[in-house]
Amino acid sequence: MSNKKKVVLAYSGGLDTSVSIPWLKEQGYDVIAAAVDVGQPGDLEGAIERGSTLGAIESRLVDARAEFVSGYLMPALKMNALYQGRYPLVSALSRPLISKVLVDIAKETGATAVAHGCTGKGNDQVRFEVSLSALAPDIEVLAPVRDWDMNRDQTISYAQERGLPITSTKSTPYSIDENVWGRSIECGVLEDPWEVPPKEIYELTGGDAQGPGEMVVGFQSGIPVSIDGESVTPLNAIEAAGKIAGSYGFGRIDMVEDRLVGIKSREIYEAPAALSLITAHRDLEGLTLERSVAREKRHLELKWAELVYEGLWFSPLRIALDAFADSTQVPVSGEVKLSFFSGGCAPTARRSDKSLYDFNLATYDDDDVFDQSDAAGFVRLWGMPTRNWSKVNGPGI
Ligand code: ARG
Repeated sequence: MSNKKKVVLAYSGGLDTSVSIPWLKEQGYDVIAAAVDVGQPGDLEGAIERGSTLGAIESRLVDARAEFVSGYLMPALKMNALYQGRYPLVSALSRPLISKVLVDIAKETGATAVAHGCTGKGNDQVRFEVSLSALAPDIEVLAPVRDWDMNRDQTISYAQERGLPITSTKSTPYSIDENVWGRSIECGVLEDPWEVPPKEIYELTGGDAQGPGEMVVGFQSGIPVSIDGESVTPLNAIEAAGKIAGSYGFGRIDMVEDRLVGIKSREIYEAPAALSLITAHRDLEGLTLERSVAREKRHLELKWAELVYEGLWFSPLRIALDAFADSTQVPVSGEVKLSFFSGGCAPTARRSDKSLYDFNLATYDDDDVFDQSDAAGFVRLWGMPTRNWSKVNGPGI
């Protein structure tokens, strides 16, 4: 039994976190490599085997998909969460969960440190470190990639000099992070915001299905429960919606985004599941939420997305906002029909047992029950403060 300090490393199997294993060893740690499955593609089992060859004393794979969906993605869907109105927080949502898994393993194994493979320029370091400090204030946090100051070629040489089995995975010039909610793509030619993204970067939205097409999403209290009439678990709903929406080429986002560290960065996302489910969910809220609740929720949705983007998942405000969201979602049950057309998606029909839409109030035909004579007095009172102000101050133009 060695009496070296133990560190739990968030290990993806990629170049940086692979090289982190020997690097941490050289700093005097015993390394436990932990790969967290949040629905990313690729050979995680193989990566785990390689972890041990690279010198980890233990290498494990944790399937966190169920918790990711129920504890992180469903709250995001209830809040229609889109950072800067566009980015469904694909990577931002997984970091607090990965942090939680690292802390759990550290507690179980007696490790006194944890490590992540983020650089110093991004949001992910903030999300990991704030989450880790909230969950385990005394744990030591190491950031090898931020500390070692090597570029990609130097990192490869470091591995080669030590004869490490780094399988140089198909050398992509992009930095890609993927999970069941979607895919984030950065770097390479994309760093020029005037460069149109090459088609080959897309994997989830390259379908050749010709629109128009349709998908009906059923919800029960804000949670997706059926796709095209078939009952599904939330994870299946995400997978099915992703496949269908992606097959119509829907779900691409190309934006210049404001990182927490103050840098503007050009980001490409593919999130057919997240965007189609949010489109349907938001539409059903239009039918079922009372007006003032819906209005208030819009502001809080933006706040929620900012909090999560900026690493404050484990904050009391996020928890309080989730309680608000849960209380609003009680009547958000029913179905929404989405139509897909040339890369776009729009809600085109909706129905709910909790619908607040009252045909007899809205109709202009003979079934009208709305007493139009009520309106005249209402409008007079509604305009009274403005009318008074104008009398005193002039019309203000
Ligand atoms: N800009 C996005 C975010 O901050 C994506 C980050 C993706 N990370 C990566 N390693 N490619 O959430």
